[in-house]
Amino acid sequence: MDTLHLGDNLPYMAVMPAESVRLVYADPPFGTNSARVAAGGEYADTWADPAAYLAWLRPRVEAMHRLLTPDGTLYLHLDRRNVHHARLLLDSVFGAHNFQNEIIWHYTGGGRGGRWFPHKHDNILVYHKGPGYIFNADLLREPYAPSSGYARAGIRARSGKHYTPHPDGKLMDDVWRIPIVNPLSRERTGYPTQKPEALLRRIVLTSTSRGDLVLDPFCGSGTTAVVAQLTGRAWVAIDSSRSAIEITRARLEKLGRGEQTSIRGDNGADRPQAGRDSSSPTSR
Ligand SMILES: C[S@@+](CC[C@H](N)C(=O)[O-])C[C@H]1O[C@@H](n2cnc3c(N)ncnc32)[C@H](O)[C@@H]1O
Repeated sequence: MDTLHLGDNLPYMAVMPAESVRLVYADPPFGTNSARVAAGGEYADTWADPAAYLAWLRPRVEAMHRLLTPDGTLYLHLDRRNVHHARLLLDSVFGAHNFQNEIIWHYTGGGRGGRWFPHKHDNILVYHKGPGYIFNADLLREPYAPSSGYARAGIRARSGKHYTPHPDGKLMDDVWRIPIVNPLSRERTGYPTQKPEALLRRIVLTSTSRGDLVLDPFCGSGTTAVVAQLTGRAWVAIDSSRSAIEITRARLEKLGRGEQTSIRGDNGADRPQAGRDSSSPTSR
């Protein structure tokens, strides 16, 4: 049941059925202490300090944990400013033993430095709910580097054991080099912090199967819903910003999904504020 919801994600997640979602991709405001403004979108990203940010994030992470199936996975997308705090929060909600990866999304391209090295990566914390989690990494194998021994005839260890190359290439590692959505890209919506479809494609294909339900509680321009739609997954996408929901809807319309996708909820909220949404969540 694909659903696009305008409003705070906390009350909406509270009434979704427990253990109904196989993948949550959450890309919240990072706690940058700024207003994010660009053509077509605006949202506040301001908290007094990390403690206030975590107090806002904790109930949402707990709600995501409740919604995940026992074999489900959370990807929490942050950056250097709060990832270390969030890691401890996720350890306490999911259990440290369920930590799976910290993916470094290295966005290529130039960068402005100063008296520091240019910041060119985000951090994506991956936690699964339990041991039997879905992990289709074989679907995303990559060619071996031409210089790698594997690329030729495999590698022979000192013990004499021969490691042959996998016919589909090597497993992806945890540093993902994917360009940001550039101004000339056909994906570009103008929404600030729009993430590339290539990034979401890796996440969706790795941690779900066709027909599974994917939840994006901070959907922004709708990248997750678009990728879920293109790969045959069901989706729920939520955002408290009207312009985000309108942009998401326009993207889905281009996929021929506009008429089938109803926008539900409307509290007029354009700023993240826990407990503000009084609309009753519904879905199509
Ligand atoms: C980093 S952006 C998401 C970008 C998105 N991944 C994309 O590809 O476009 C964060 C989003 O969270 C939304 N947001 C902030 N607080 C929220 C809340 N309490 N409930 C729902 N959405 C919220 C903002 O409006 C913003 O669109």
